[in-house]
Amino acid sequence: MKTDTSAFTKTSLPIPSYLDETYWWAYIHPRAVHLFERKWLVNLILLGNYDRLCDAVLETFGKKITGQNLQIACAYGDLTPRIAERLDEQGHLDVIDIVPIQLSNLKGKLTVEDKVDLHQMNSMKLDFDNDQFDRTLMYFLLHEQPMDVRVKTLSEGLRVLRPGGTLTIVDFARPSRWNPVKYIWMPILSVLEPFAPDLWHGEVAQWLPKNVAIADMKVTRYFGGTFQMINIVKG
Ligand SMILES: C[S@@+](CC[C@H](N)C(=O)[O-])C[C@H]1O[C@@H](n2cnc3c(N)ncnc32)[C@H](O)[C@@H]1O
Repeated sequence: MKTDTSAFTKTSLPIPSYLDETYWWAYIHPRAVHLFERKWLVNLILLGNYDRLCDAVLETFGKKITGQNLQIACAYGDLTPRIAERLDEQGHLDVIDIVPIQLSNLKGKLTVEDKVDLHQMNSMKLDFDNDQFDRTLMYFLLHEQPMDVRVKTLSEGLRVLRPGGTLTIVDFARPSRWNPVKYIWMPILSVLEPFAPDLWHGEVAQWLPKNVAIADMKVTRYFGGTFQMINIVKG
C-alpha cells in the first residue's frame, strides 16, 4: 500500500520508538495495514464486540454530530467514516495519527471528505488550541501506549476540549473474576500488546491530569468487564 501524503497535513514528526518496536506489525508495515483493515478481523480481536462498541460511541456523539470533533489516532474498521457521515452542516472532524500510512488508509475509507481534516500529529503534543473541541475520542489508543505517553495523551485530550465538552475513551478493562476472557485472552494479549495490562491493573481516572476540572465521569463496562467506555465531561 502506498502512502498518499496529499491526504493529510504532514509534519516531519518521527514515529515514537514504542510504536516502531512494539507495533510495527500492526500499524507501520504496509502489509500490516492491508492485513488488519478487515472488519471481521478487528471484530475477532475484540471478541465480537466491534459493532457494539462503535455503536456506543456513535450514540454518545448523537444522530447528528455538531461542532468541532477530534479523533485522536486512526482505527481500523468503519468507525471514523460512520462518524463523518453523521456530521451536520456545521459539524467538523479532525483526525490525527503519527503514522502517515494510517492517515492515507483512513482517507481511502472516507465517504464524506469535505468536513474531515487529517493531520500527522503526536497525541502527546497536539498542535491545537486550548478549549477548541466539543468532543474528543480515543478509541483503543491508551492500551497501546506506555504509561508516560498515555498520561500526556490524556492531558492533551482534555487541554484541547472546551469546558462542558466530552472526552470519550473506549478501551480494554479488567474482566470480572468469573469471565473466561481473563484466563484465555488476557495472557495472549499481554504478549502481543505489552502495555495493555496497565488497563487491567489500573483505572483511567488515576492517570488524568490533576489541574483540569472534571464535571462528570461515567464508566460503562461491556462483555463481562472486558471493555469500557468512559465519558468525561470537562469542568
Ligand atoms: C487508536 S489505536 C486503534 C487500535 C485498534 N486496534 C483499532 O484499529 O481499532 C491505533 C492507532 O494509534 C496510533 N498511535 C499510537 N500512538 C500514537 C501517538 N503517540 N500519536 C498519534 N497516533 C498514535 C497508531 O499509529 C495507530 O494508527
